[in-house]
Amino acid sequence: DWTMEDFIQQCIASIRQQVGSAKVIGAVSGGVDSTVAAVLTSRAIGTQFEALLVDNGLLRRDEANQVVHRLRDTCGVQLRYVDASSLFLQLLQGVVDPEEKRKIIGNTFIKVFEKEASASGASFLLQGTLYPDVIESSSHGGPSVTIKTHHNVGGLPDKMNLKLLEPLRELFKDEVRAVGKLLGIPEDSIYRHPFPGPGLAIRILGQVDQHRLEILRHADSIYIEELKSANLYRCISQAFAVLLPVKAVGVMGDTRSYEDVVALRAVETVDYMTAKWYPIPATVLEKISSRIVNEVKGVNRVVYDITSKPPATIEWE
Ligand code: XMP
Repeated sequence: DWTMEDFIQQCIASIRQQVGSAKVIGAVSGGVDSTVAAVLTSRAIGTQFEALLVDNGLLRRDEANQVVHRLRDTCGVQLRYVDASSLFLQLLQGVVDPEEKRKIIGNTFIKVFEKEASASGASFLLQGTLYPDVIESSSHGGPSVTIKTHHNVGGLPDKMNLKLLEPLRELFKDEVRAVGKLLGIPEDSIYRHPFPGPGLAIRILGQVDQHRLEILRHADSIYIEELKSANLYRCISQAFAVLLPVKAVGVMGDTRSYEDVVALRAVETVDYMTAKWYPIPATVLEKISSRIVNEVKGVNRVVYDITSKPPATIEWE
């Protein structure tokens, strides 16, 4: 009987055999796939593996800190934190087109990662590729036009002289979660909603700057905190706040305000190819909305996105 315990033992043995005494490098995001891949590799070869967290300045509130702490201290992975946020934010200055944002962020990530990888002397690249990613990238049944450029699969190894290490390539998401639990990875990582590579840049419609990042981080953290305390976080596949490029009129005491609008998105989906908007109870929405307008300076209106995919996509950009 094949169990996940067996998988872990075999996987560790096979990583050791494949890698020998070479060095492995891999980017981590704190999501379940990269975390499980990193912990397995670190169990197999210890400090021959180095995980890299590239901070692009587009992460959520306190996210970089939490990922560093969780991987290093809780999971015992050798991790290097690379703060490239000023580079990313500088290159994004004045950019409003969503695809252009994606390209800049993707290319900059590759540049930063390549530099770190060549300095590390690694000959293997760890990737948290899952079985569905393998199927998707080898089939020709997908849409014939690019709707959005995703840069979290592929791209990296072609240019670099690194061999690929993909310990999760036979697993489905629920199996990765089961392995993660057995490895003692905290539930915060195991059940974390997916977060796009371009991060908050594609959730700030229009220009991205420090000020707007702070507004969105604050609103998003309130939203997620309230979903967790209402026990809804795990019922929802992905939830996040979006900062709109419009201002709305409001009233504050006896003065008129003219401030930013935040949209809340929540969807239920299995494969992220189609998705249904999730009906958060009105009482919970009410609490989220009043907290956001009361606590986030510069926001005076909150709207709820009730569009499914298709025709909308999950992200707004
Ligand atoms: P859409 O918006 O295309 O999103 O319905 C489907 C899923 O993909 C995520 N997403 C991305 N992930 N790089 C990523 O790594 C990207 O550029 C990107 N764009 C969308 C999105 O968060 C959702 O889970």
